[in-house]
Amino acid sequence: MRTATPGAHLLANYARAPVTIVRGEGCELIDTEGTRYLDFLAGIAVCALGHAHPAITEAVATQAATLVHCSNIFNHEPAGTLADQLAARSGFDRVFFCNSGTEATEAAIKLARKLAFRKGESQRRTIVSCTGSFHGRTLGALAATANAKYHEGFEPLPGGFSFTAFNDVAALDAAIDDTVAAFIVEPVQGESGVKPADPAFLAAARRLCSERGALLIFDEIQCGMGRLGSLFAFQHFGIRPDVVTLAKALANGLPIGAMLVDESAASGLQPGDHGTTFGGSPVPCAAALAHLRFRDEHDLDAHVAEVGEVLRAGLGKLAGQLPNVFAPPRGIGMMLGLPVREPFKAKTFADAALLEEHLILNAAGDNTLRIVPPLVLSVGEAQDGLERLHRICAAHSTPNGGK
Ligand SMILES: Cc1ncc(COP(=O)(O)O)c(C=O)c1O
Repeated sequence: MRTATPGAHLLANYARAPVTIVRGEGCELIDTEGTRYLDFLAGIAVCALGHAHPAITEAVATQAATLVHCSNIFNHEPAGTLADQLAARSGFDRVFFCNSGTEATEAAIKLARKLAFRKGESQRRTIVSCTGSFHGRTLGALAATANAKYHEGFEPLPGGFSFTAFNDVAALDAAIDDTVAAFIVEPVQGESGVKPADPAFLAAARRLCSERGALLIFDEIQCGMGRLGSLFAFQHFGIRPDVVTLAKALANGLPIGAMLVDESAASGLQPGDHGTTFGGSPVPCAAALAHLRFRDEHDLDAHVAEVGEVLRAGLGKLAGQLPNVFAPPRGIGMMLGLPVREPFKAKTFADAALLEEHLILNAAGDNTLRIVPPLVLSVGEAQDGLERLHRICAAHSTPNGGK
């Protein structure tokens, strides 16, 4: 199990676990020693249909044998069909494809600024985001990410970004004026520890942005694609932004990002304004189409509601049994966080879960255990994982703080 990881030449920018994964099957990952791990993380909210799902595998293999790349100077069927499908399901008019979440954020920032420019509102430059937000690691997305830890040493970051307190309507009211091109918000903050937005905050954001001429961008990169129990997070909240960004689960693990835009804002980006070599390549698009087809054939939303409740109840029970260690769980659907009280560390539990119980989850932001399993996790697998987690937490909740 604890075989040395191959890849001595990989840049050491990740704190990798001492486990080398060779394959996945459903909701399990398997390492070089044949040890099976129950996956409560899904590549951090990526593999919604689990690993090696036959529908995805088949779509990828067929597309790879047909057309892998032809440049965005041509139309191709997978990207065109996927854009049409996303538009039909979201009610948005236009779709831009890229390769990752951070690129979707960059596209949204550029769209917002260029739209204001084209409208002759050259004072409208600022992108407002929330405290605790995470929008990506490229420099523009990083500037919109309100976490000094990620900024340190990378300054100077691009200008024209400001932050407002998450879930504070009065602060948002003060932050949105006629210099603001867009307000970007995660309907459920992921990296800062699974923190849902108040519906009233998102409703106020919609009203203020409309009144004051700023675009409202929902970053659904982590919380979208069914994780909250509806295909899009904005549908869960019943609030329609102007722009939605997607990535992670869209193609169930193949690299893709997307920006959905209303027609009213789509003119912001015109030929030559923005682009990417690989964005919306045929193979990831084929995988995303297979993902959407699976959703048509299975009521994944009802399943997420059911399994999400099993997980939430189990985490609540754990918090109730160890109230000095855990606060009650947060989150929506199958995007859940269990806050860990100091001096206990979420990472201690996550590391122990991996090595002692072969359960994969991780520590997010504010000392929180993050649980974002494949959406196809069965009730039995959910209960199995909760039992493993209970054992780990009981074993490591010692008076010395779990150290
Ligand atoms: C909400 C959110 N936005 C943006 C990103 C960046 O996505 P990527 O890592 O694909 O660039 C992430 C990644 O965790 C995310 O959770």
